[in-house]
Amino acid sequence: MKVLVATEKPFAPVAIEGIRSEIESAGHQLALLEKYASAAELIEALADVDALIIRSDKITADIIAAAPQLKIIVRAGAGYDNVDLPAATARGIIVENTPGQNANAVAELAFGMLIMAVRNMYAGTAGSELIGKTIGIQGFGNIGRRVAHIAQGFDMNVSAYSRRPNPDATMALNNIHCAPTLQDLYANNRFISIHIPSTPETRGSIGYDLITLMPQGGVIINTARKEVIDEAGLARALEQRPDLKYVADIAPDNADELLARFPGRVYFTPKKLGAQTAEANINAGIAAARQIVAYFLNGDTRFQVNK
Ligand code: 3PG
Repeated sequence: MKVLVATEKPFAPVAIEGIRSEIESAGHQLALLEKYASAAELIEALADVDALIIRSDKITADIIAAAPQLKIIVRAGAGYDNVDLPAATARGIIVENTPGQNANAVAELAFGMLIMAVRNMYAGTAGSELIGKTIGIQGFGNIGRRVAHIAQGFDMNVSAYSRRPNPDATMALNNIHCAPTLQDLYANNRFISIHIPSTPETRGSIGYDLITLMPQGGVIINTARKEVIDEAGLARALEQRPDLKYVADIAPDNADELLARFPGRVYFTPKKLGAQTAEANINAGIAAARQIVAYFLNGDTRFQVNK
């Protein structure tokens, strides 16, 4: 089988070596398309491909239509909002992710950004420390759990909100306060770290009403997706509450406006880099390769997201 790794934002070379070894030792062929500049390039590369490994690369219905032999797409990472699932499902193509594999990388970045925010973007003015402060974690999956663990290492008080039915048992076991509502989470935590997927339900769901509930000196750290924020609502909240800050891994659509209006209170990474570490690339890339090998070997679809 021919496996294509198509990444607009390439994996670390050491991860590619690992992927190659998994794929070739199982008797398959590996092709690479890195830093491609257009969908047309990807479409051309897909003509004779049986399996595809991607990152945040957009896989639209048109791209799927251009891959007549494609049987499986593995998103090496957590969020699969970049793949047109109905189009894949209609063609009988398996779509998988590699949950948890880059969780630590994202969680560490959340703290890097939080520290930068509370130290006033390293401008040299007196900031504040994390010890003893409250952090609220929105979304308690692999990344949220890792953020909680790291926060406890900083001696912070940790709360979390999850839409899952019974997360409180895990939380209680780990000394994490289970916020009964999202409003409660925002109202009672000085720092909020967002770890929810982008879905029709979550898109634009964090806006003025929630953000302005935050205590004085609040910071929102968004290492999830820009789409979960109601950007106009965020701008209104920052205008009304000069004490609040917003730091995000990838710029919102109104980044220029926010940077101009709220200097020193907003920060955006130049491209999504939460999972951009050698370790996360190795973990997620090799997991993706193994999942493809397992699928072709014995039909293993354990990580399928379009069941
Ligand atoms: C994910 O959903 O796994 C992260 O957002 C990482 O995305 P990336 O692979 O594009 O860095």
